[in-house]
Amino acid sequence: MIPAAWERRHVLSLRDFTVAELDIVLQTAHSFQEVLSRRTKKVPTLQARVVANLFFESSTRTRNSFELAAKRLSADILNFAPGTSALTKGETILDTAKTFWAMGAEFMVIRHQQSGVPQTIAAEMDRLGGHVGVLNAGDGCHEHPSQALLDLFTLCQGFGSDRPRSESLKGKKVAIVGDIRHSRVARSNLYSLKAAGADVHLAAPPTLLPKEFDCYGATRHWQVEPALEKANIVMTLRLQRERMDQHLIPSLREYHQQFGLTRDRLKQCHPEVKVLHPGPVNRGVEISSDLMDDPHFSLINQQVASGVAIRMALLYLMGNYHTGPLT
Ligand code: CP
Repeated sequence: MIPAAWERRHVLSLRDFTVAELDIVLQTAHSFQEVLSRRTKKVPTLQARVVANLFFESSTRTRNSFELAAKRLSADILNFAPGTSALTKGETILDTAKTFWAMGAEFMVIRHQQSGVPQTIAAEMDRLGGHVGVLNAGDGCHEHPSQALLDLFTLCQGFGSDRPRSESLKGKKVAIVGDIRHSRVARSNLYSLKAAGADVHLAAPPTLLPKEFDCYGATRHWQVEPALEKANIVMTLRLQRERMDQHLIPSLREYHQQFGLTRDRLKQCHPEVKVLHPGPVNRGVEISSDLMDDPHFSLINQQVASGVAIRMALLYLMGNYHTGPLT
């Protein structure tokens, strides 16, 4: 498995990902999904190489699936808990990253509540000439590339043939509904879905869907109904109360009444509509609890499962970039 056109040391943003690169990630993940279905779910690809999971902000899905992906590739993994680290004694983020680099980390998976931290660490690693690949695992309101890639993988598997390709989403109507303003998931998905040729519609109250989103080539709606009309895919997003420093919605109850995804609202969509949510979910706010748990519509568990194969693919491709082809 030696992918042809992969030339990225870091994965920080999907902004300039080509369709060819998206397809390399999808097809590599597809191969790893086959590995994950075997009795022995492990390959020696990253044996003795060190992956540092530097999560400065809380996470369940992303942190654990990067850890499992690294373990499935036989890497050594260093986890980091900010609350019990030397950060509490005043060490800087860059000095923290350099400490892991000095221990031999070749991959750094970074989550931070401030936009731009993974980019800053990547620039410092490049300056040191350390051959470290940095993965953005979600930075502030900026981007969450591996989430959008696992969403793409989940959707292409649903709509495509036996090997997932981004072109299977061409012309599909995708409604992204929720707190788009604060969503790094929405921003990364806008890049990948538009590159795949999907017809993307955004729906949120005006306070959560500012004009800056016009530049992404999606259609903006301040009501949910036109976005849902005949949609093939609905991606609901969490209301990020921790990032709301003003009163941007009247109440959670009113938000649910106007924008919450329910079985009734889903009737406006395509009969075969599929529902995604990156998690964590505010049950009964952005999506009704029963709909979230209905496997006929909800792909939420498949999204989580896809995350391991996608993160194996990213580690593999990045590892390939700086050492030459891996076995
Ligand atoms: N989707 C996502 O990023 O979830 P976590 O915050 O649990 O990683």
